[in-house]
Amino acid sequence: MSAKISVMISEEEIDKRVRELAAQISEDYAGESVHLICILKGSVMFTVDLAKRITVPVTLDFMKCSSYGDSTKSSGIVRIDKDTDESLEGKNVIVIEDIIDSGNTLYYLLEVLAQRNPKSLKLCTLLSKPDRRVKEVKVDYTGFIIEDNFVVGYGLDYAQKYRNLPYVGIVEDLDE
Ligand code: IMP
Ligand code: MG
Repeated sequence: MSAKISVMISEEEIDKRVRELAAQISEDYAGESVHLICILKGSVMFTVDLAKRITVPVTLDFMKCSSYGDSTKSSGIVRIDKDTDESLEGKNVIVIEDIIDSGNTLYYLLEVLAQRNPKSLKLCTLLSKPDRRVKEVKVDYTGFIIEDNFVVGYGLDYAQKYRNLPYVGIVEDLDE
């Protein structure tokens, strides 16, 4: 049985916004290169689409953290499951996140990454739910600010499902 999902941000809207963010990043880092750190798994779609639109040289790395199980509430405990392969030393690092909710994950992660001597360290998120913030994190690039709804699609999951949807949507019958 499949749940009913209503579209919140369409494929076209996402594409338009990703191009705008990529243009902004390309302008901000003109004459330099950027090192994107994709936070697995939720940021995969966003990272690759963004990377394709950035016009300055791009390198990619991947990290995996967990603060969530299969529930929709943050546990507040952040664990690094997979660290980066490359050194951050002297690089213009941009952490690419799917969504910032409580802020717990990125608050912790940015502290850890700042210790590794990057030339610069910024944060780019597709989605942000500011009303849910527990820890303050400075977000440099935000795709969309959304209300406190649990969303799926375009990389985001509910119990590992729906990541492949080309749009961001709300699962209507989440509690079943
Ligand atoms: P935070 O540490 O509470 O900011 O949570 C960040 C992580 O929680 C994100 O990277 C997502 O994996 C997950 N998350 C938070 N809100 C949602 C949502 O609405 N849908 C899917 N995943 C979410
Ligand atoms: Mg995530």
